[in-house]
Formats: sequence, C-alpha cells, structure tokens
Amino acid sequence: MIERLDDPRAAEQWCDARRAAGGTLGFVATMGALHAGHLSLVRRALQENDHVCVSVFVNPLQFDEGADFERYPRSFEADLESLDEIGCSMAFTGTLVQFFPGELDAHGALLPEHLADPGPAAGGLEGACRTGHFEGVATIVDRLFDLVRPTCAYFGQKDFQQALVVRDLARRRGGPQIVVCPIAREPHGLARSSRNERLDAADRERAAVIHRALEAADHCWRSGERSPEPLLQSMRSVLAGEPNFALEYAELRDPHAWTASEPRGELTRAVALVAGRFGDVRLIDNQLLGQQLGQQLGQQHGGGA
Ligand code: PAJ
Repeated sequence: MIERLDDPRAAEQWCDARRAAGGTLGFVATMGALHAGHLSLVRRALQENDHVCVSVFVNPLQFDEGADFERYPRSFEADLESLDEIGCSMAFTGTLVQFFPGELDAHGALLPEHLADPGPAAGGLEGACRTGHFEGVATIVDRLFDLVRPTCAYFGQKDFQQALVVRDLARRRGGPQIVVCPIAREPHGLARSSRNERLDAADRERAAVIHRALEAADHCWRSGERSPEPLLQSMRSVLAGEPNFALEYAELRDPHAWTASEPRGELTRAVALVAGRFGDVRLIDNQLLGQQLGQQLGQQHGGGA
C-alpha cells in the first residue's frame, strides 16, 4: 500500500530512512492530475531504484497567470490510486508555507531573495512567454531535491526547456542524476498533458496538428534539409492549416547548446518546439529532429546530470 504524506518534513524523514537503509531512491516531481506520461516516469523510476517517491504539488510560484493556477486540475485521491496500482512506495504533498517555512512575506508570497536562478537554459521560448516561470520551477525543484535527496530524478522531454533547466540546476548542486524520459502521446499524436482534460472533444482532435507539424519538420530534416527557414516553413504551414490554434511560437534550437534566440545558418542538430493555445488551454510539444525512437535527450547527454 502506498504511503501518503501531507507534510514535506515527514517526506524528508521517510526518504532519510530509505537512504539510511542503503537503497537507491528514485524521485518524480509532479503537479498531479496524473496521466500516462507521469506514470511512464514513475514506472521507469521503479525499474531503476529500490524505492520511488512522487511529489504532488501545484506550485503557485511557476504560474504566470493566476487563472491558470486556479483552473489547474487537482485530483490527489485518484493520483494516489494510480500510483498505488503501479507499486510506487510513497507520495507526498504540502503547502507553500510547509515547503518554504519562514521564507514567505505577510501576504503568503515567497520573498524574492529565496527564488532560485534558473540559469541560461531559461532564456527564450517558455522563459520569454511566461515571465518568472522557470524561477518558480527551479525554486520548487531545488527545495524538493533538498528534501528527497534522490539518487535519480526523472523528468519528461515533453517539457524540453524545463528538463535543461533542471539538468543545469542538478549539475550546480552536484546531483541528483537527471533522467529525461520520452514523450507519452495520445493515439493520434497529441502529447499527454494534465491540461488536455480541459480541451473539448473537437479541440482535442484538432490539437493533433501540433504533432503533425513536428512530424513535418522531422520529415524535412530526414530528407536532408539543414537550413532553418525551410524546416520552420514545413512546421508553420501545417500549423497555419488549423485556424483554431493560436500559435505562440514554432522554433528550432540546438538541443546541446541552448540559445535564447534561434540559431543561424546550417544546423547540425535540432529540436523543434511549438507552443500555442486552443481557447484558454495552452499546449507545448517538441521533437528532436532525425532521432530514432528511444534516442532521447537524456541519452544524448550521457543520461546523467
Ligand atoms: P507536471 O506538468 O505535472 O509534469 C511532471 C513531470 O511529468 C515533468 O517532468 C513533465 O515533463 C513530465 N510529463 C508531463 N507530460 C508528459 C508526457 N506526455 N510524457 C512524458 N513526460 C511527461 O512539470 C511539472 O509538473 C512541474 O514543472 C514540476 C517539475 C513538478 C515543478 O513544479
């Protein structure tokens, strides 16, 4: 039976005891409303560790829009059931004040001096569209790593830029090892996301256009194209065919050398990244161009932190 802890300090003690007993500890950080994408991370962690714990915390620090935070789906009881079914040992949650005791102001907001620096991978794209987002992510992940002190922590390629920010954070801290796991998709290609629940049936069908656009760029890459313009054009023309999709960006980056703006000239490696909205539901997705199935970001970086 899964252990449920509602206090991060109790979670810290649980993790200390597991580590003291000599086992490896895998960790998956989540904001809950768990789906097959999250569970694929937990399964991988279970395969590779003696114990696995999952945090479920809708982190207010990383939401740049109050309404998005309010609307974010919450289903802790159902999440615990799914985690229990696959054999996860412990799940914990907490409140902002429990995670940051003595670090909040009189209004309950985190004092700015306690915000973590997300580093250079936070530049551009998500960092540019969502002010303060990666500061919020780096701050909670840093605190979670302090509490759990995992051997390995598992993150999804779905949030590509986040995976880079977390990998850099782990390097600066001297651990844990970061494992980046493949994107889990719905049958028609839409990347699984807690926010998909808020799409109506028609938009959920239409949202497959994002994956089709990434596939078009991948096809173009595989046919030998290395100049950014035709690659971008292949992606953007597919997206333009879906009038309900409000595009925020469709861009390319070198996955090994992140830059805030688009790299110039011929590319030797590329990841295509897309963000946009159906109504008020914001979706992101990405694809490493020319990669074989299973060849992922983590492996390209040697799988380590
Ligand atoms: P959340 O969106 O709940 O995602 C938790 C983890 O699941 C992240 O590492 C994310 O990349 C991964 N994930 C989400 N959808 C996925 C999919 N379709 N396939 C594979 N992995 C997927 O990301 C966050 O929460 C937060 O920013 C967090 C790291 C918990 C900090 O608050």
